[in-house]
Order: sequence, then structure tokens, then C-alpha cells
Amino acid sequence: MCGIVGYVGDKESAPILVSGLKKLEYRGYDSAGVAVVGNQVLNVVRSVGKLRNLESRVGAEPPRGTIGIGHTRWATHGRPSDENAHPHTYKGVAVVHNGIIENHLVLKEQLRARGHEFSSETDSEVFAHLIHEELERGADLVEAVRRAVAQIKGTYALAVIWERDPTRIVCTKESSPMVIGLGEGQNFVASDVPALLEHTRDIIFMEEGDLAVLSSGKAEIFNRAGEVVNRPIRKISWTPMMAEKGGHKHFMHKEIWEQPRAVADTIRGRVLLSEGDVYFEGWTLTADQVRALSKVTVLACGTSWHAGLVGRAMIEKLARIPVEVDLASEFRYRDPLVDATQLVVAVSQSGETLDTLAAVREAKARGALAMGICNVMGSALTREADLSVMTNAGPEIGVASTKAFTTQLAAFYLLAVKLGRLRGTLTMQQAQEHLTHLTGIPKLLEAVLRVEPQVKRVAREFMKSQDFLFLGRGAMFPVALEGALKLKEISYIHAEGYAGGEMKHGPIALIDERMPVVVIAPREPKEPYEKILGNIEEVRARGGRVIAIIDEGDQHVKTLADWTIEVPPACALLAPLVATVPLQMLAYHVADMRGTDVDQPRNLAKSVTVE
Ligand code: F6R
Repeated sequence: MCGIVGYVGDKESAPILVSGLKKLEYRGYDSAGVAVVGNQVLNVVRSVGKLRNLESRVGAEPPRGTIGIGHTRWATHGRPSDENAHPHTYKGVAVVHNGIIENHLVLKEQLRARGHEFSSETDSEVFAHLIHEELERGADLVEAVRRAVAQIKGTYALAVIWERDPTRIVCTKESSPMVIGLGEGQNFVASDVPALLEHTRDIIFMEEGDLAVLSSGKAEIFNRAGEVVNRPIRKISWTPMMAEKGGHKHFMHKEIWEQPRAVADTIRGRVLLSEGDVYFEGWTLTADQVRALSKVTVLACGTSWHAGLVGRAMIEKLARIPVEVDLASEFRYRDPLVDATQLVVAVSQSGETLDTLAAVREAKARGALAMGICNVMGSALTREADLSVMTNAGPEIGVASTKAFTTQLAAFYLLAVKLGRLRGTLTMQQAQEHLTHLTGIPKLLEAVLRVEPQVKRVAREFMKSQDFLFLGRGAMFPVALEGALKLKEISYIHAEGYAGGEMKHGPIALIDERMPVVVIAPREPKEPYEKILGNIEEVRARGGRVIAIIDEGDQHVKTLADWTIEVPPACALLAPLVATVPLQMLAYHVADMRGTDVDQPRNLAKSVTVE
């Protein structure tokens, strides 16, 4: 996610902004910039790449002024570039924005028709234009921001300055974090606490719909109804490291808890419910091209490969195209059968995994069309693929993938609906039903986070185990693989994931009283459910201990299993998003109780850029 810092006071603002942005570097970004007002003139310095690039530009020609805003950008709309870096400006108005403007295309079109020209590919620039229009109509800066925001559909944390009102920063938020820092004769705004700790520990967490007006001597906050409100001032005692993790003990824990937001951001602006369709920026495939596809080949490694296995079920069910899922590291060494009738979908959080990139190159060389499902705009995968679907999870810092996985599943589901509509395998009404299920998932993810105390009890009971088995059927088989991978990589406990039907073909020999078996047993679809009940009986009969992930209220499995964790039921193809969360938590708490380095497990790297 992007970072915001704003300052108003009596000091030169540029160095304060740059040093605040540095405190947000850990979140990842691809470009940065500052806008400063001095002598009623707006000065903007921006640069793609690392903050040191911005610093050297700022150093060469320091923008002077005691009020300013700064930003580190993590690209979502438009590639990383100087032009797309924030702040965005229009005729003396400068804005920094975190979030997504869902209706930016319509707004841009309307603004263009009224003579506006845009200088970036971003959605955020729309804010600068809308605000300027309102200023032209006679509104003051506060009213102009309010009116501009009223035209936006989407999420935002927004900070605005205007060269003709050089003493105030106006900021507002909806579904993106924003905090105010209070100082003596100076005030601050930021997307995150770490940016401010160097200057103040008196922090106000803005609430949804709040709008704040900051000047050097005052910080005034209005609620959605425009009434002045007193939000509590919190004394933050966090160390800078704790602040980076938003108060969570580890990044992995923070990222598990971010999943409702991350999945919502992946869906946002893409679901066209009334049309029963999906909108992807930069989508180029025609219905004829999609109908002519002979198959889809998914290429990925690790957790992303597990996402591909769930994606296969989604695409095959909704778009009725055969899907192959290959480990990228295996694909290119087996002289793969690929031709121009295939769509290759490469899945990668980082977009830099060498094996995945090499497999994409191999497939492209043989004529296939390559699509990336990726979390990092501007990464090698997004550059090499013919088209990309971004997951919008925001930077993932914990080495073990969590929110990247669930957002990849959401992206696959959108893709499956899109392909289904283009192929004619889904009617508008069917697509509407599927998309309605998908838009309900963030709420279910919020609900499933509440199982953490139960999961912690299970973790305490089994933290000393030496082995674990995870079982699932259908779309839950990849979830079992993912649960096992999460546990082994951060707790160093040997764990294996199996399809329930494979038990009798070998793994059942492992079962005894020392073997905990995690069984993922949603009630839908019916047949796999009945079969997995059989697996539970098999394990129990051999003295194994069963931890079952079940649908809320499933009394039957409760009588069979030793431990149960109840999750809200979801439709069969989307249930993997929900069921994965308790498994991530189980891995996390077991590892934490064993005292391992959760965020940076031994021998592992976040991005595997070697073979
Ligand atoms: C597991 C994990 C890895 C990655 C794999 C691929 O938690 O993070 O298995 O999924 O290295 O990485 P990306 O998705 O960046 O290509």
C-alpha cells in the first residue's frame, strides 16, 4: 500500500516529508514525491524508484515552504513512472491519495469533455481536477474537497494542499487508514503511525468519513455530517518496529488480519453486477479469442501454485475450459506442448520468481498468450506478460504468503467469470449470482478472523507435535497443501497435505496417536463432504487426533473430531478463501509458541530469484 505524509508548521517541510516517507519504506513502493507550497507557489518533486532518487532531486533543488505533502506509491492504476508518482497536481492543487477510485474512467471522461487534460495514467489525478473545478465554482478548499469526494466511488485516504490557501492541509478518509499527529506549532498527517513517531506521539486515528483541516496551530476534525468532532488523542508508546507492524507482533499476523481489506481491494471496481460481467484494466481478449482457446495452463511456484490449483477448479467450472496447472520449475524442462491456442496464466506475488518468469518466456516463445496474476505492478512478470491482473493485496512483508494467496483466489474467480461470460458458458444471471457470492467474501473473512482464540487453543495443544497431516477434497485439497506448507515453513514441523482419497494409497500408514490430522470438511459439495467424513473415521479408528475445520453449526463432525474450528459457510468455489484463514493462524501460533522467526523463517527468501 502507498504511504502518505503531510506537514504544516514553521519548519522547512521537504526534509520532514522525505524522512517521514523513509519510515514507511518497509511497506514497499515504486516511486515517491513531495509537493510543497512556499510564497504561494506549489513546487513538486517526484521520482520513480527508491527514495534516494527523490532525495537527490530534492537536494539538488530544494522546494521551499513550510507546508507540504508527500507520498510513496505502490502502483495499481498505471505503471511506476515519474508521471504516475504522487503528488498529482492541477493548476496549483496538489493531492496524495491511497485507495482506489472505482469510477475514475467515467469521471475522467466527463472531465475531459469539460476541457481537462490529464498528465498521468492514475485514478488519483482525478481528485486534483475535481477539487480545482469546485474551487473555480467558488468553494473554499474544505468545501471543494468535500464536494470532490462526494463524486467518488471507492476508497481513499486523501491529503490536499492549494497554493492559494497556503496554511492548511485538508485530509479525509474512507476505508484507507489515516492518522493525525499533533505537535507544538506544527501538525502532521500520515497513512501510518511510523511516519510520525520521530515528531510526536500524540496521535488521532481518523474515523470513516472524517475530514480534517490542519494548520500550524490547529487540527480540526469534522465527521461525515460536517459536524466538528473530538476524536480521542492516543499516546502511542509503540517502538518504531511495533508501529510498522501496526501493533501486531509480526508482519505475518498483520497480513492475516488484512485479508478482508486486501480481498475487497482485489474485487473493487471490477465487478459489474448489473451487467453480470467483470472489468479488468488493460484486458485485450475478445470473445472470439477466448472461444478459440484450447486450454489454459497455469504456471506458478509454492503458495501461488496452490492458488493455481484452486483457480483450475474455478475456471473449469465456470468457463468450461480445460486447465492444466504446472509447477513453473517443472514445466520448462519437459518440452511442454504449448501453442498459440493456449492462454498461459502465470501466478506470482512478487512477479520476480525466476522459475515462473522462465516458464512464461518458454510458453511465449512457443506462441502462447501470457497473462500474469501478480501483486507487484512493474515487476518482471507484469512487464513480460501480454496482460496482467493485479491482486492489489498491498506489499506482503512476511516471508510466508497469506494475503497474496487469498487475493490470488479472488483474482482467479473474477477471471473465471470473465472467461465464462466471453465463452457463453455463464448467463448474465448466473454471473451475477457468482459475483454476488464474491462480493460477500470480505465480510466472511472478517467473521472468520474471530476464530483466532479457538485456533490458539489448538496450537497450544499441538505445538510440540513432530508431524502433521492435512486432508481436503476438491477445492479443499489445495487448501490442505497450503495449510501444510504454511506450517512447515514457519514452525519447521514436518507437515504434508493430501487429497482425502489418497489416504488409503499410502499416508494412512502414518496414522497413530502422535499424528494430528487437520481435516477441512465443509458441508458443500455434498459428496466430498460425505467422503471426508469417512477419512475422519479412518483416522479416529487408528488413534490419530482430528482437528476439523467445519461449517458453523455442523454438529455431526463435532461428535467425530477431537477439535473443531467453525468457519462461516461459503459457496464451494469460494470456501477455500475462508477455510485457509484458520490454517494460516494455526501455522502462525504454533510457530510463535515455538519461538521461531515467523517473518523470516530460516533458509527462505521472500522472492526466489534463483533456480
Ligand atoms: C510460501 C511462499 C512461497 C511463494 C513462492 C512463489 O508461503 O511464500 O511458496 O509462494 O516462492 O512466490 P511468488 O508468488 O512471489 O512467485
